[in-house]
Amino acid sequence: MWIANDISTLRDHRAKAHGRVALVPTMGALHDGHLSLIKRAHEIGHTVIVSLFVNPTQFAPHEDLEKYPRPFKEDVKKCLAAQVDGLFAPTVDAMYPPEVLSSEVNIPELAKELEGASRPTHFAGVCRVVAKLFNMVKPHAACFGSKDYQQLAVIRAMVEDLAFDIQIEACPTIREADGLAMSSRNVYLQEDERHHALGLSKALSEAQQMIQAGESDPLIVERAMQQVMTAHHVAVDYAVIRHAQTLRQLDSLNLQVTGSAVALVAGKVGNVRLIDNRVIDADG
Ligand code: PAJ
Repeated sequence: MWIANDISTLRDHRAKAHGRVALVPTMGALHDGHLSLIKRAHEIGHTVIVSLFVNPTQFAPHEDLEKYPRPFKEDVKKCLAAQVDGLFAPTVDAMYPPEVLSSEVNIPELAKELEGASRPTHFAGVCRVVAKLFNMVKPHAACFGSKDYQQLAVIRAMVEDLAFDIQIEACPTIREADGLAMSSRNVYLQEDERHHALGLSKALSEAQQMIQAGESDPLIVERAMQQVMTAHHVAVDYAVIRHAQTLRQLDSLNLQVTGSAVALVAGKVGNVRLIDNRVIDADG
């Protein structure tokens, strides 16, 4: 497995890559969720490149950029074990050369609410780095997790609007045995907080059960999700039901008519901000 820390080394390796190239963009601290993306990348590509970059432009000044976990040696081992062909781990200066004027990439319609309401500059940073990674790596396909549901929608919109000729592959959320969605931020959770964090996945199960039992008022379901989260000591940021494709609000949960819905939750457990979601279909 080659490792590149700058763009010219990456381009040398990329020029020799064979077949379809599948990219898995990450910020490292790799867990089984990331590894499932790598597995999928092997299925849809001949050459698998993982990028590992803790992207400063998607963190707000008060967020956890400095303390974000960076277990680089373990990440390299995990990539080797997962038969990754190349690891692109650029320095901040390689990704954002100080002498270059910065550009903006953003999808205002999708980036303002939910995650964007709490983190107003977040998706502009995500779009900018993902667009740069696409231009640097030139993949045929790229794998993203449905765990970050709104991020996936934003990236799909960017790919469509900017006409990137790249297949965007959505991968399912990998969970711990008790339902907690895997996240690099879970390592921050203290023992009692680890238990409280189950409030997110339990709120999603509650939403699914209510909708499948025939509840059609989204506000009633949203209130129930909030209650489950609050009962688990989660400080609720949002707990909403949206249209699964457009992320627009739904007046009624008649899924036979509207198509699939998605329940999306975010909240803080102690100081740790967690998100989760579940798609809910008419047929269960
Ligand atoms: P990161 O949080 O490291 O996640 C990298 C990829 O792994 C994302 O596509 C994310 O959705 C996916 N992922 C995370 N947890 C997962 C889980 N439990 N199951 C399945 N997939 C999971 O998302 C980012 O990094 C960054 O915003 C990035 C896209 C790399 C841009 O900087």
